[in-house]
Amino acid sequence: MVDVRAPANPPGTGHVGQQRPHEAALLHVTGRALYTDDLAVATPRVLHAHPVTAPHAHARITRLDPVPAYDVDGVVRVLTATDVPGVNDGGVKHDEPLFPVEVMFHGQAVAWVLGESLEAARLGAAAVAVDYEPLPSIIELTEAIVAESFQGARPRLERGDVAEGFAASTHVLEGELEFAGQEHFYLETHASLATIDDDGQVFVQCSTQHPTETQEIVAHVLGLSSHQVTVQCLRMGGGFGGKEMQPHAYAAIAALGATLTGRPVRVRLSRQQDMTMSGKRHGFHATWRVGFDDDGRLQALEATLTSDGGWSLDLSEPVLSRALCHVDNAYWIPHVRVDGRIARTHKTSQTAFRGFGGPQGMLVIEDILGRCAPALDLAPEELRRRNLYAEGQATPYGQPVRHAERLDRAWQQMLDTSSYDERRAAITAHNAQDPHRKRGLAITPVKFGISFNFTAFNQAGALVHVYKDGSVLINHGGTEMGQGLHTKMLQVAATALGLPIERVRLAPTRTDKVPNTSATAASSGADLNGAAVKDACEQILDRLVPVRERLGATAPWEDVVHAAYLDRIQLWAAGFYRTEGLSWDLSTMTGSPFKYFAYGVAAAEVEVDGFTGAYEVTRVDIVHDVGDSLSPLIDLGQIEGGFLQGVGWLTLEDLRWDAGDGPQRGRLATQAASTYKLPSLSEMPADLRVTLLERAAEDGVVYGSKAVGEPPLMLAFSVREALRDAVGAFGAPGRAVELASPATPEAVWWAIEEARR
Ligand code: MTE
Ligand code: MOS
Repeated sequence: MVDVRAPANPPGTGHVGQQRPHEAALLHVTGRALYTDDLAVATPRVLHAHPVTAPHAHARITRLDPVPAYDVDGVVRVLTATDVPGVNDGGVKHDEPLFPVEVMFHGQAVAWVLGESLEAARLGAAAVAVDYEPLPSIIELTEAIVAESFQGARPRLERGDVAEGFAASTHVLEGELEFAGQEHFYLETHASLATIDDDGQVFVQCSTQHPTETQEIVAHVLGLSSHQVTVQCLRMGGGFGGKEMQPHAYAAIAALGATLTGRPVRVRLSRQQDMTMSGKRHGFHATWRVGFDDDGRLQALEATLTSDGGWSLDLSEPVLSRALCHVDNAYWIPHVRVDGRIARTHKTSQTAFRGFGGPQGMLVIEDILGRCAPALDLAPEELRRRNLYAEGQATPYGQPVRHAERLDRAWQQMLDTSSYDERRAAITAHNAQDPHRKRGLAITPVKFGISFNFTAFNQAGALVHVYKDGSVLINHGGTEMGQGLHTKMLQVAATALGLPIERVRLAPTRTDKVPNTSATAASSGADLNGAAVKDACEQILDRLVPVRERLGATAPWEDVVHAAYLDRIQLWAAGFYRTEGLSWDLSTMTGSPFKYFAYGVAAAEVEVDGFTGAYEVTRVDIVHDVGDSLSPLIDLGQIEGGFLQGVGWLTLEDLRWDAGDGPQRGRLATQAASTYKLPSLSEMPADLRVTLLERAAEDGVVYGSKAVGEPPLMLAFSVREALRDAVGAFGAPGRAVELASPATPEAVWWAIEEARR
């Protein structure tokens, strides 16, 4: 078992709980950090891959002739379906042909060309002759719902009896909501570099959150076993879930090219290719009916959530499960029935994105509460607080909400430290005298389940080597994407071994070091790998006990290690961890799939311009629960970054596909930063105050810490609800405000128009 309390952490040692910069911060800011594609540049005789992409949303390929490509100078090889020695599929669901006969989205790769230069490969790709027979396509989610174009499972989450709940309700309201997905826009686009050694061993360097699965896909495409393929991930320039399943096909193309030519092959997507070819956060459509009693207490919720899965399943099923498991957010709802469906549309295959469906489920209930508060004659913050979980209550899927009192504690701390009541009064006064600019304020909670719903994924391994000179090298199954996992693992190892952090180094993540790893995802990278690292360190320490006893407690670490070596004591260990106590029955959608919940509360204040709908986020206060932080500076960065990424999703980032009937139907219209607006420093609230919840140690997790990667994204609901509040101030009091998502300035302007009516 992992213990709760960190041992005494002498200052300056870099142990857990101490502030550390990101382990590679210096490399990042000086440009010396290497990413996968930097390695390609330094690889002799490397070939460059370019896709042949389809100009239709849906079509049958009637002819594909690679011959003309070979007339282009520098073209070395065209890759098509006939080249695949194993399975022609780039996914795990076997619904993603690597080389398709039926085009399923605009921009899909139908063949790849390898060239001596990227330019040669590009010209070669343009020369490949492809004939298409266009087929009818479904682009919009609402079209898919009408056409009943669905794929995969249709789960139902149910507790109690909704009919009874509605009968006990004095207010029953209903509505509908459709909201957008989100482009990951990691700074580093998808990248792979494959080489083959003299023995046919395939080595793929890949920007992947899931090296093991990349290895498995490469192996099945090539018809090899896993031990013939090694995948390494040095680091990623961001993943955000977009590299959990989507890198596999590109890695397979690189590996296939390397196998066929015997030369190293590099696949690196341009930004435009990445945006048009790779999956995004799922947009959702929701219909709902909700019942409250006279006090505004939720009695019943009935809803249908339909996600836009795009052309193939990818991770759509688990994303939908997580959405259903988070439709309660932080609120007790006695009677619940929520149905989930995944639409099949002719778009990119939507995938994991920070929160993994959780944000989508939670957006539904937050939208409901925001819209219903006026009808219940309650301030939205009062409505929310009244419905917060209390100790002893359980989620709709039956998991007790442990530490529910933390929600209340964080909420109260927020009210106290953000001078909420005074600011509410000031805002009311301001709004009364300014007809053109209105201010809004809102407070929203977050409860997010930590662990993979799929129980088997909740395991991790690590390899810790102590060398004869006492220096330590650690390897673990997690990948580094900027989130600071490696920094935390160094701190864990240093703490567990009682060494200054400088004595510990970390090696890149590779499948031949730690096998059968899970994706670094579900925010559980530090929980799982940290416990595995700690386990390995403790095994080594245990073996050193007799040596320590002989040499005395004050003997330096180096002397102990050296003596242990001479005693022929094994100085390295493989660590392992599995999360205990989890249960999940997918068929009934019941169980306790999460080790614990991460909690947070945010209060946001905005100011909206009535002429344009433009707005500013003027102040945000956050109280967030990270348990006993492993690395406070890293956690702060995760909270700020996650929050702002959520603000981007909810207020700025506006994915548009051409839904017209012209020849460009299905084309992603927002395929560059010029048309896809991302949050940047200028969208950072002028005043942002983040506090970590105190007295929050989480027992049973490595050094009492809690996962932090995803939950803060959902703190951004506070901004959306503050915008709703401000929009409402333009109209008569007590009227419900509907707000589109993303609530872009344009959408806010339309909402103001509606409010004024
Ligand atoms: N932070 C940075 N800087 N870059 C990222 O790509 N991904 C997020 C989050 N924070 C991400 C990030 C996502 S989607 C997850 S699941 C977690 O980090 C994964 O890492 P962890 O499990 O180590 O928290
Ligand atoms: Mo994160 S969406 O679980 O990679």
